[in-house]
Amino acid sequence: MIAEIIQYSDFKMIPDILPPESHLFLRLQPIDMMSQWKRIGMVSDFTAEFFGQHQNLGNLTKNSVSTVVNELVENAAKFAKPRNGLIDLDLKFYSSLIKIEVRNIVSERMRGNFEMHIKRVLTGDIEKMYFDHLESLVSKADTSGIGYLLMYKDYPIRFGFQFKRLESDKHEVTVEAYLNIIEH
Ligand SMILES: Nc1ncnc2c1ncn2[C@@H]1O[C@H](COP(=O)(O)OP(=O)(O)OP(=O)(O)O)[C@@H](O)[C@H]1O
Ligand SMILES: [Mg+2]
Repeated sequence: MIAEIIQYSDFKMIPDILPPESHLFLRLQPIDMMSQWKRIGMVSDFTAEFFGQHQNLGNLTKNSVSTVVNELVENAAKFAKPRNGLIDLDLKFYSSLIKIEVRNIVSERMRGNFEMHIKRVLTGDIEKMYFDHLESLVSKADTSGIGYLLMYKDYPIRFGFQFKRLESDKHEVTVEAYLNIIEH
C-alpha cells in the first residue's frame, strides 16, 4: 500500500516561515515546456539572473542555479500527469543558499518509480552509481537516469522530497533543492 504522505532526506530543512532575502514564484504548464523545450532554458537562465543581479552572484553560482533549475523543471515537465497540470517553481534566496522547490502532479506508477529511484540514490554510493551508469550507456542507447546522480556529484547541494496522495491515481510530488552558494 502506497503511503498517503511521505518525506525523504532534508525536506523542510528550512521551514517555510523563515523569511527569505529574495523570493520568486513561477507557475508553469508542462505543455508549454514540452511544446518548446527552449522555454526550460529561458526560465532557468531567468531565475539565475534574477538572483544574480540582486545578490551580486558570480558566474559559477549563476550557472549552478540555472543548471539545477533546468534539470528539475525538465523532470517536472517530462513526468507530469496530466500534461496540462501545473508546475510550481518556488525559489527563495537566503544568505548562503538558494532553495529551489518544484511541485508537480504524477500518476501512481510515476510516483512509485520516483520513490524507488530516490531510495536507491539515497542509500547508494553516488560516485559508483554514476560510473556504473556511464558504463551501461556504452551498451545501450538510453541516456536517461543521470540527472540526480550528476546534481549530487557535481554541486554542494542537498535535497528533500515529499510524495502526497491527492486521489487514487493522482499524486503530488515536491522536490526541494538546497544549493550552497560558494563565492570566491
Ligand atoms: N518531477 C518528477 N516527477 C516524477 N518523477 C520524477 C520527477 N523527477 C524525477 N522523476 C523520476 O526519477 C527518475 C530519475 O530522474 P533523473 O532526473 O535522475 O533521470 P531522468 O530524468 O530519467 O533522465 P536524465 O535526467 O538523465 O535526462 C526519473 O526517471 C523519473 O522516474
Ligand atoms: Mg532528469
